[in-house]
Amino acid sequence: MARKNHTFYFAERPVGEIVPGRTFNYVEADAPTAEELKDGQVLVETLYLSLDPAMRGWLQEFRSYMPPVAIGDRMRGDIVGRVLASKSSKAKEGDLVYSFAGWTEMLILDESNINVLKLPPGAKPTHALGVLGLTGLTAYFGLSKIGQPKPGDTVVVSGAAGAVGSVAGQLARIMGAKHIVGIAGSEEKCKLLTEELGFDAAINYKSPTFREDFSKAVPDYINVFFDNVGGEVLETALHLAAPFSRFVMCGSISGYNKFAEGTDGIPEIAGVRNLYRVITHRVRMEGFIFTDFLQEVPEARAQLAQWLAEGEIKAKETIVKGGLKVADTAINQLFTGGNTGKLIVEVKPYEEVSNSSVINQCFQ
Ligand SMILES: NC(=O)c1ccc[n+]([C@@H]2O[C@H](COP(=O)([O-])OP(=O)(O)OC[C@H]3O[C@@H](n4cnc5c(N)ncnc54)[C@H](OP(=O)(O)O)[C@@H]3O)[C@@H](O)[C@H]2O)c1
Repeated sequence: MARKNHTFYFAERPVGEIVPGRTFNYVEADAPTAEELKDGQVLVETLYLSLDPAMRGWLQEFRSYMPPVAIGDRMRGDIVGRVLASKSSKAKEGDLVYSFAGWTEMLILDESNINVLKLPPGAKPTHALGVLGLTGLTAYFGLSKIGQPKPGDTVVVSGAAGAVGSVAGQLARIMGAKHIVGIAGSEEKCKLLTEELGFDAAINYKSPTFREDFSKAVPDYINVFFDNVGGEVLETALHLAAPFSRFVMCGSISGYNKFAEGTDGIPEIAGVRNLYRVITHRVRMEGFIFTDFLQEVPEARAQLAQWLAEGEIKAKETIVKGGLKVADTAINQLFTGGNTGKLIVEVKPYEEVSNSSVINQCFQ
């Protein structure tokens, strides 16, 4: 019997949260086959799908750094997949590849849309989506290019137990910061930050004493604030900024589910009311998208790989099992704090296989 393939297509722009079974259509069709390949193409099956907060923004119809997903389109996303058959000199059967292929189990890709994974010793395929991929690189560029921690600095990271934040805090230590504070949404995550990831202090932003706790945790005020969440947390950090501090504006997840139709990208949350402190404290507040530094990715990735291999960075991951079909449910973990570290859906578990067994699977 012909192998079946499943794909999520964008069905309805959400107002508020992504609604499983409604925001996307999960569609079954015959899987593509090796016989359909043209020269320069590969047949890929997805092993791991990255789930990212930015995906929520791509579902909104407003001007951003990339166009919105159109209704009816396959949902976008980064994957690690395995080449099942190839008519490309760039990749052979069995190779692991990275691609911005989207939420699907199998597809044919042009060779220009894949990168063959060459994992450093000790690295796992999922690291290509996290610590050695988009989120690790985001932490690296945000901190090194904008935050620029100096020896003796106090660095505070919001969303600190997440994919970007957990790496940013660990990099701050490597880059010489003296006092590193993480902000996260549970006592358990705070414990992870101080006991496993080397943060000096951690604060729960859901605690009723958050503002006092924050103030006590930064007696010398904040030199670098790496912000992943925006809103009230950002406002409090601005209140505690040292003169000439740097605010790395990486993300604003507290507002992503508050986008509504027709608001042109303005989430329905209260604004940061103390922006005047940017003037009084000469704060440099700068946004960035990690692709601003694409030229430097190979060097940055090699550096992250070395730190990972040396144990200077620990990679945290939440891998959701259950196949592609759970992706539209799993994505909401990003907004409820269900994930720790990089959130990934295991579409098909990775197993070392010989080329011949890959070929056999392909023609089953
Ligand atoms: N600029 C760039 O190029 C770039 C690239 C990648 C990601 N980003 C941004 O970086 C941020 C983190 O992304 P990520 O992939 O690493 O995700 P993540 O931090 O692994 O997951 C999101 C986390 O955000 C926290 N969160 C959710 N709602 C919140 C709220 N209302 N207030 C405070 N915290 C909340 C949750 O943790 P708690 O349990 O702690 O609440 C959740 O686990 C996002 O804002 C994302 O858009 C930017």
